[in-house]
Amino acid sequence: MTAIPLHRHYLHYSELPTSLRVLYTAALLVLGLAYMFAGLYLFHTYSGRDGNSNTLSYDDLVIAYSGSGKGSRLEAALRGPMSNMLPPDELSVLVGWVQQGADKAKYESGIKPILDKRCMSCHDGSNPHLVNMSSLEGLKKVTEQDTGTDIFTLVRVSHIHLFGLTFIFFLVGLIFSHAYWRPVWLKSAIVGLPFLCLALDVISWYLVKLYHPFAFVTMFAGMVQGLCFAFMWVISMYQLWFSGTPEAVAKRHGVDTIAVG
Ligand code: HEC
Repeated sequence: MTAIPLHRHYLHYSELPTSLRVLYTAALLVLGLAYMFAGLYLFHTYSGRDGNSNTLSYDDLVIAYSGSGKGSRLEAALRGPMSNMLPPDELSVLVGWVQQGADKAKYESGIKPILDKRCMSCHDGSNPHLVNMSSLEGLKKVTEQDTGTDIFTLVRVSHIHLFGLTFIFFLVGLIFSHAYWRPVWLKSAIVGLPFLCLALDVISWYLVKLYHPFAFVTMFAGMVQGLCFAFMWVISMYQLWFSGTPEAVAKRHGVDTIAVG
């Protein structure tokens, strides 16, 4: 186990001042909480796009990043949750109109009467959470083709994600670097891997638009980041307070136990 000698700059938690160990612990606790909330938010944002809200699936990610492939949001709603709001013949009139470009001329004569009769009880604008379909302008928001998250939104989320998670993994990695773990290559991999996965994750958001299976890369990269985070968190916490001084560290000092100050 101790084939590789300790680096002369390596310090185990048990050699650090109490104040520093308290700082590390506090940071880990809050970061752990933050990671949990981030997970909840992620689940809430993405699960359910494929019609099943209990799981976060491959399809959810494909729909989020590259669109449902079912045309506009209006069409998707008409074929999905809103399909029982109107009889099939009126439904095909609406779908046909959207597919042909949702032009203004036909709106007044053929479309508005259907909407007034079937949809206005909910979509008249009185409920701010529902699409307001009382005018063509309001309707236009849902007649555009669904091509998933637009590039500009992705760019915005990318930079937040890259900056934010780099800080998180830098801090957790720095704290974990004081843990005693062998082999050294594995310890180094666990510190470095999240950064690689972070980059892969963000890049594949864009690539999903071009080739759907990149959603697997996003899922896999996200999982590896989560696992590395959890591993570093648990090992750090344990060695900070519960495991005492590792033998190799104690031997370096030529004493059995060392004072903790
Ligand atoms: C009984 C109330 C009710 C009626 C009537 C109704 N809707 Fe909805 N609609 C909702 C609710 C609630 C939501 C939001 C929840 C959801 O997305 O399932 C919604 C969401 C939508 C959305 C947005 C989907 C998205 O992508 O966010 C569209 C488009 C839509 N409805 C179209 C229609 C059309 C067209 C009609 C008439 C044929 C209609 N609705 C009739 C209640 C209604």
